[in-house]
Amino acid sequence: MSTELPEPAAPPPTGDGESSQAPTRRTFIATSTAVGGAVVAGGVIGGALLADPEAATAAESPPSSRVSLTVNGTRHTVTVDNRTSLLDLLREHLGLTGSKKGCNAGACGACTVLVDGQRHNACLTLAVRLEAAEVTTVEGLAEGDQLHPLQQAFIDQDAFQCGYCTPGQIVSGVGCIQEGHTGSPEEIREWMSGNICRCGCYVKIVRAVEQTAGRK
Ligand code: FES
Ligand code: FES
Repeated sequence: MSTELPEPAAPPPTGDGESSQAPTRRTFIATSTAVGGAVVAGGVIGGALLADPEAATAAESPPSSRVSLTVNGTRHTVTVDNRTSLLDLLREHLGLTGSKKGCNAGACGACTVLVDGQRHNACLTLAVRLEAAEVTTVEGLAEGDQLHPLQQAFIDQDAFQCGYCTPGQIVSGVGCIQEGHTGSPEEIREWMSGNICRCGCYVKIVRAVEQTAGRK
């Protein structure tokens, strides 16, 4: 009779019949599928783009739209990148550089224009949303050589120094007067408060608006 002990049993299998260190069937299949899918997708898309250069160009180009709007009485139809602001449309596409880019973030008012008679920060307004809109910039205020009364008032009151904020101040002042917010210097200050003047000409700017509104 033999006295030898039997061989020790093999370690029990883990859930999937594999050791815990080795990749499981599940992780292997998931990894293979992801890698394979990426390779196949990359090959198909890349192949399609290589086969069709126009498709490749279209895929690279940002989405653009056509928009028709009237600026200072002139109708314009332009195709622009959907991200273009009204300020960039005016300055870069139409060559109207009167509206100034100060902060480009809605904080200074240097870019103020009238859209359908309302004051807007052109830097925060998407051009493609202005289909059929009527836009007035500082270039559209004068009648030929005849300055707008508020432009003349800015000269009379010496209401600027460097002049960078002035186009926005004047357009905003026109809006302020049209809205009837000129009952007192305090009211004018309040309704012009979105227009910053780094040269500090506020007292004279308020006087110019008062002069034009007929309060002086
Ligand atoms: Fe538009 Fe400053 S440039 S608010
Ligand atoms: Fe210089 Fe207003 S005049 S910022």
